[in-house]
Amino acid sequence: MRIGILTSGGDCPGLNAVIRGAVLKGTEINGQEFVGFRDGWRGVVAGDIIDLPRLAVRGIAKEGGTIIGTSRTNPFEGDGGPERIQATLDRLGIDAIIAIGGEGTLAAAKRLTDVGLKIVGVPKTIDNDLNGTDYTFGFDTAIEIATEAMDRLRTTGDSHSRCMVAEVMGRHVGWIALHSGMAAGAHAILIPEQKTSLEQIGAWVRSAADRGRAPLVVVAEGWVPNHADDAHSERGLDAFGRPRLGGIGERLAPMIEELTGIETRATTLGHIQRGGVPTAYDRVLATRLGMASSDLAQDGAWGNMVSLRGTEIERVGFEEALTALKTVPQHRYDEAAMLFG
Ligand code: F6P
Repeated sequence: MRIGILTSGGDCPGLNAVIRGAVLKGTEINGQEFVGFRDGWRGVVAGDIIDLPRLAVRGIAKEGGTIIGTSRTNPFEGDGGPERIQATLDRLGIDAIIAIGGEGTLAAAKRLTDVGLKIVGVPKTIDNDLNGTDYTFGFDTAIEIATEAMDRLRTTGDSHSRCMVAEVMGRHVGWIALHSGMAAGAHAILIPEQKTSLEQIGAWVRSAADRGRAPLVVVAEGWVPNHADDAHSERGLDAFGRPRLGGIGERLAPMIEELTGIETRATTLGHIQRGGVPTAYDRVLATRLGMASSDLAQDGAWGNMVSLRGTEIERVGFEEALTALKTVPQHRYDEAAMLFG
């Protein structure tokens, strides 16, 4: 079987480890052959491929980014669509696709599988917002990076007696904010799943400052302030029609300063959270998922993705991952909120 691998959507630490895991298991055990589509669905639509022999994946598990490139191309737009994509696969002699991606990628993969294309998936996102898997690779690395950044922000906060606001990614869920905020000992964590009044935020900030602490407020980019209907977005839509988020921290900081009288600064961590080497946890998870994706293709389990359940790698249908976002449950927020202020 000749398999094309693609990485699509935002890059994510661990993508290369997935590719390596799939190629090693596939070539050594399953008798498969691999190519990589350049830049996600763009490479599929354009038939732009590179060979991926075992040699090409040597030593890449520790590398960030993706050796085959990624993009947010929608395979149903432009020259895309199922018939043309199948014709391209036939021309290139590619039997099946392993699609490594998040919600947008897997939704596209499901639509294509529904009309007969042979695709299996590997869930990927630093946001950890995909249902059907307990964790996604990349999330652990993002939390490590965010936590380290917050530790650094706290030293400046302490030195200047300032309130520091740290904005993290996560799209419409608060997992990165919750975990990094807890790890860094934040005095408030604001996530999309929870409405929090400005007065409450001010009270937490004042309470920390009254104890002589420099308050740290962690805000998820998708947090919706009480007075707003939607998350802050000033950068238009992405290729899948989703609002591009970011910037709420800069909005929030002056409000906190005005309310509390405490000098406040905001830092948006942005793409730093997705960059650099994956943690050991993410390398192991990504490698295991990659190996399992080769098995999934070998079994012809089209329309399924590999997933982590507890400590085991399992397989679930695309629809399970796509029915709803995996949001932060109330009890997890309540647990963290006991430490606020
Ligand atoms: O899904 C991963 C993610 O990093 C989100 O947290 C963020 O909202 C988005 O991608 C940013 O996308 P881009 O890299 O296209 O700006």
